[in-house]
Amino acid sequence: MPDFATVDLLFAIAHHVLIFALAGVLAFEIGAVRPGMTDRDILRVARVDIWYGILAGAILVVGFSRAHFAAKGWDYYSANLFFWAKIATFALVGLLSIVPTIAIIRWRRALTANEASLPNIQDIAAVRRFLWAEAALFALIVSFAAAMARGFGVMAH
Ligand code: HEM
Repeated sequence: MPDFATVDLLFAIAHHVLIFALAGVLAFEIGAVRPGMTDRDILRVARVDIWYGILAGAILVVGFSRAHFAAKGWDYYSANLFFWAKIATFALVGLLSIVPTIAIIRWRRALTANEASLPNIQDIAAVRRFLWAEAALFALIVSFAAAMARGFGVMAH
C-alpha cells in the first residue's frame, strides 16, 4: 500500500490529466461544430462526445476520492463554500452538456437515415451557445478550486 503522500500525488495527477482531457474534448467540439460542418465532422464529433461522458464520470470519481481519501479530508471540503460552488457548477456543466449530446445523436441518426442530411445553421448556433457556456463555467470551476485549496470560503459550523 503506497503512503498517503503518494496516493495524494497520484489522485492530483489523475485529477488534472482528466480535467485537461475534458477541456480538450470541449475545445474540439467548439472547433468542429460550426456552420458548414460535413458528414465526417458529425461522425467524428459523435465519437468524441462519448469521451465527454466518460471523462466527466471519471472526474467525479477521482474528485470525490480526493476529497475523502486524499488532500485535506472530507471535513475540510464539506465545510467550504467554494467546494460546493465548484460541485454545483460542475453539475450545471453536466446539465448543459445534455443539449449538445442530444443534438449530436440526432444529427448522427439523421445522417444514417439519409446521407445528405446535415444540421441547419440555427441548430448549430444553438449547440455552440451551450458549448461556450460550458467553457465559461470551466473558468469559474478552476477559480473555485484554487480558492478552496487555499482555505477561502470556510463556512461556520
Ligand atoms: C465532482 C467533481 C470534483 C471534485 C469532487 C473535486 C475535488 C477536488 C479536490 C478534493 C481537490 C484538492 C484541493 C486541495 O488541494 O485542497 C481539487 C483540486 C482541483 N480541482 Fe477539482 N474536483 C472536481 C472537479 C473539478 C473540475 C471539473 C475541475 C476543472 C474544470 C477541477 C479543477 C481543480 C483544480 C485546478 C484543482 C487544484 C487547485 C489548487 O491546488 O490550486 N476540479 N479538486
